[in-house]
Amino acid sequence: MDKNGLIIDLEDICFGYPGRPRVLDKLSLLFFEGERMGLMGSNGSGKTTMFHIIMGLLKPSAGRIEVFGRPVKKEKDFRDVRKRIGLLFQDADDQLFCPTVLEDVAFGPLNLGKSQDEAKAIAGRTLESLGLAGFQDRITHKLSGGEKKLVSLATVLAMEPEVLLLDEPTTGLDDATEKRLVEILRGLDISYILVSHDMEFLREATTGITCMSNGTIVLDDERIPHTHIHVHEYGRYVHDHGRKWPA
Ligand SMILES: Nc1ncnc2c1ncn2[C@@H]1O[C@H](COP(=O)(O)OP(=O)(O)OP(=O)(O)O)[C@@H](O)[C@H]1O
Ligand SMILES: [Mg+2]
Repeated sequence: MDKNGLIIDLEDICFGYPGRPRVLDKLSLLFFEGERMGLMGSNGSGKTTMFHIIMGLLKPSAGRIEVFGRPVKKEKDFRDVRKRIGLLFQDADDQLFCPTVLEDVAFGPLNLGKSQDEAKAIAGRTLESLGLAGFQDRITHKLSGGEKKLVSLATVLAMEPEVLLLDEPTTGLDDATEKRLVEILRGLDISYILVSHDMEFLREATTGITCMSNGTIVLDDERIPHTHIHVHEYGRYVHDHGRKWPA
């Protein structure tokens, strides 16, 4: 960890997919210990790409990356990053590749050097904490979209990461499960960046919202979307503040 608690320090990152225009254009981001950062941005603005760059799955054409106070350049550096930062992929099918749920969730701990028994015990505990007790022997590719998302989260949490990058974790979750996820996230003693288009979810699960636009982080406060609660007559009906009500 950097002495100021700086976990992720991106400076002037540029990236474009082959043959395509730049997605990230001199993007800079500072992410500190204890932060629960919400990240918003229109479709295609580069949020997922930025996560993949932090994890070393994509290589920027320019810019500087420091994680936990150390420059990260080579694959070996990124292997260390991947041990400490867990990425929940936007698409659960990118995360899950084993035949059964138990194998998928135990895979990470096994990879970190735990014994078969330890890995299974961790997997069992993690599944239970997410309300997925009894899912161990389910066939992964036959799960529903929301179930896959939760099992994906279990695979990440089972590795006991110090930091989480969560790419649209609520996709496919029903209201009750989304609420449970908020409680789970609030209960974790962990810093995270959470990408979502769901303002209400971000408001409940994060301590602040950062925006991405045109391949960079927008720091202009006036552009930060926000919700507010207001009370007035006829408020229970859908209304437009540009018009008087009742008409
Ligand atoms: N593998 C790829 N090859 C070519 N272009 C890609 C690839 N992956 C993403 N892109 C393009 O890069 C841009 C940024 O994509 P990215 O997935 O990072 O956006 P995003 O902000 O996560 O969007 P969303 O909110 O829809 O998830 C998009 O225009 C997308 O079409
Ligand atoms: Mg995305």
